[in-house]
Amino acid sequence: MSFIDKTILPGDITPRSIFENRRSLIRAAAAGSFGAALAPWFSREALAADPEKLSATLNTTYSSKDELTPYKLATTYNNFYEFGTDKADPAEKAHTLQTRPWTISIEGLVKKPVTLDIDALLKLAPIEERIYRMRCVEGWSMVIPWDGYSLSKLINKVEPLGSAKYVEFISLADRKQMPGVKSNIIDWPYKEGLRMDEAMNPLTLLTLGMYGEVLPKQNGAPVRIVVPWKYGFKSAKSIVKIRFTEEMPKTSWNQFDAREYGFYSNVNPQVDHPRWSQASERRIGDGRGAFAPKIKTQMFNGYADQVASLYAGMDLKKYY
Ligand code: MTE
Repeated sequence: MSFIDKTILPGDITPRSIFENRRSLIRAAAAGSFGAALAPWFSREALAADPEKLSATLNTTYSSKDELTPYKLATTYNNFYEFGTDKADPAEKAHTLQTRPWTISIEGLVKKPVTLDIDALLKLAPIEERIYRMRCVEGWSMVIPWDGYSLSKLINKVEPLGSAKYVEFISLADRKQMPGVKSNIIDWPYKEGLRMDEAMNPLTLLTLGMYGEVLPKQNGAPVRIVVPWKYGFKSAKSIVKIRFTEEMPKTSWNQFDAREYGFYSNVNPQVDHPRWSQASERRIGDGRGAFAPKIKTQMFNGYADQVASLYAGMDLKKYY
């Protein structure tokens, strides 16, 4: 099930396997196996065989107070088409992704193009934890503690030229490691982009981890972008290239269907997707799955104070 299908069925919101796992975790928790003080993402220790901790400091200015999505759900209900179109595919198949060695090349309209090793990227700036609301275009949402730093810190180091108006993010597309790349759903590699001022907004996070650990492969290891005021597909995973351009870059979902997936894709309850309303959402992980009550979607996903000014004077129905 994916948002390229023509309908969304309630049963697809939370596959049965997730219910089952959740129930057994809740049982284990009730039996005391997780100790008395359960973290909101209490299943983490049980799941991560060899978690690589990150030392991150919580950035309270940018953090939501909403209840966190359990780690189990955030890492088993994913969109990562390089590993298949089913929500369960990434968690099952992404183990083949090789995240070391990994380099990311920063090129295009910059004074100082550079190819950075992932370990250099990890040390480029102090890692912060930011609890962000994430809203998927399909109508569900999660609340995830991401670990990373503002993308602007990296951008400032490479010194973009005055002519750089956009930033393009390009994901890895390797058939040997990514079984989904054999399909032709997307014109691989997965590509996304932001306007320069969006990329420089402090909320835009160069993301290296989540829940205090390095990113799981299914969530876009070893490095991804997270843009919390836009629909989730703008947050490109497992990126290998960042390119500065003068022209608006072509993005994968926009190429797939421009009418359904605009370049901006700001979360906007007033602008419906052509096939469904975007006025409300279901918060994954409140325990009720497809029966979770719908909550109202907020303008810019609740980040209007930080980002509304970027779009002053723009008709957001036209620039969706
Ligand atoms: N990045 C790549 N490379 N490939 C993808 O299929 N899916 C996007 C986005 N980034 C995707 C991607 C979509 S549709 C969503 S909703 C988010 O990743 C999901 O991120 P999560 O699985 O970490 O919640």
